[in-house]
Amino acid sequence: MRDYISLSTARWEEFQEFQRLGLIPTHGDFSPAGVHYPPITNYPPISQEEAYNGFKEIVPGEFDVYVHIPFCHKRCLFCHYPSRYNCNEADKDIYLDHLEMEMRNWLSFRGLDKIKARTILIGGGTPTDLSPKQLERFLTFFTKYVDISNCPQFNYDVDPSTLVGDKGLERLRIIKDFKGDRLTIGIQSLNETVLKKMNRSHNAATAKESVKNCLDMGFDVNIEFIYGHPGETLQNWIDVIEEACTLGTEEIQLYRLKIEPYGDQEGTIKRFSVYHEDELISVEDTIRMKEMSTLILADHGFNENLRRVFTKKRSNISLYAYNQCCRLKDQVGFGLSAFSSLNDRFMINTPSFDEYYKRTENNEIAADRCLIRNADQQIRWSVILPLKNYFIDKKLFREMNGIELNSVFQKQFALLKQYDLITETDRKIELTPKGAFYSDEIVHMFYEPQHQSFPESDFVNGIMNPYTF
Ligand SMILES: C[S@@+](CC[C@H](N)C(=O)[O-])C[C@H]1O[C@@H](n2cnc3c(N)ncnc32)[C@H](O)[C@@H]1O
Ligand code: SF4
Repeated sequence: MRDYISLSTARWEEFQEFQRLGLIPTHGDFSPAGVHYPPITNYPPISQEEAYNGFKEIVPGEFDVYVHIPFCHKRCLFCHYPSRYNCNEADKDIYLDHLEMEMRNWLSFRGLDKIKARTILIGGGTPTDLSPKQLERFLTFFTKYVDISNCPQFNYDVDPSTLVGDKGLERLRIIKDFKGDRLTIGIQSLNETVLKKMNRSHNAATAKESVKNCLDMGFDVNIEFIYGHPGETLQNWIDVIEEACTLGTEEIQLYRLKIEPYGDQEGTIKRFSVYHEDELISVEDTIRMKEMSTLILADHGFNENLRRVFTKKRSNISLYAYNQCCRLKDQVGFGLSAFSSLNDRFMINTPSFDEYYKRTENNEIAADRCLIRNADQQIRWSVILPLKNYFIDKKLFREMNGIELNSVFQKQFALLKQYDLITETDRKIELTPKGAFYSDEIVHMFYEPQHQSFPESDFVNGIMNPYTF
């Protein structure tokens, strides 16, 4: 095995150089960019009529579809996602009643019989926290409202503990019966100490058993891990990634631990960070972990084919993420706090159960906040998402904005080329492997000052400072 710790030193030195140039904040923290711009928490409240006023679907009736199932067995230390924990079956049935109402209301409001699904993602929370019977009930009404006949990928975000034993196998069979074909399993770590610290509902053996069950049943499997979490060390992170590469999946996805909340909700990790500061992983070790995993994964034939997603073949990536973040297609979300990206606007459903139930019972749509982008925000959005996640397609940019890509952000693109962070051809602009490492920071060079994730005082006044453009 190569000496990955020593090999990561050059990257740590480069990281500090980019702090001196003002690209990276002096504290070294990051903000996960790349699913929307402007950031989601800034959207104003809006009525149903205003939300859809003047809205035109890109392709009538055709959407990438997201459904949020907000239930989990217990709350993981790191998680900021909205969910309810250890609920009884009756509570989940009530949620499903309202989810069905929401889908019905939305279709009737939009004058559609059925949505034609381009791709599907059922996420959460943990969608497989539903009992097998409830899962079947959900998929029965879901497929009543969503035509899946031309849907090349039907994804599920799942948790290992729900995929083992008789009930786990039954859930997998149901997903398969309803044409689900791709599962993203949150493994997070294969180290017992770290898994306990995370308050996960599974140990390493269960995680591996769940992967095997899914592979045996013929699913495409993506496994997710977090680096920089309390309890991790450079060595145990190397061991985890080495082992991850042997589990037989075609795809491995990595997340850097985010301690600060980035949506409506604050996870317990934030309070933990205040009382257990001594247990937090240093920025240096976190950056080394990121670099080491990139090297280890490459040594095992996994390359970063979508940001943070390492696959053996480019075709293994999530088409749902590709459509949403790289091709900027219409995406509709159902369920608590679900996000929709609809042509020139974003909408977000209420995060409150009571409000969600009230709205759906009153035949209203569940989105209570919406942002209709102005021309400037539209241009930034169509640069930030594709650049962060894949590449900016010049033709798509021209079609969306009516101007040439080369007519905007010339200063940023020139600097990024100078530092070997992007490449450009007649067709596209894309991050180099070095640029990919700093993708979250680079895209902040295209943010308006009021939407920056960190205050100006967090940056050195260097030439790449995101406030200077
Ligand atoms: C909706 S979550 C979880 C899916 C599923 N319930 C599970 O636990 O496996 C999607 C992924 O986001 C990542 N994630 C969640 N919170 C995070 C945080 N604070 N920092 C970094 N990654 C996080 C985790 O890897 C997680 O699997
Ligand atoms: S990581 Fe998954 S299982 Fe854990 S609290 Fe978040 S959504 Fe639930």
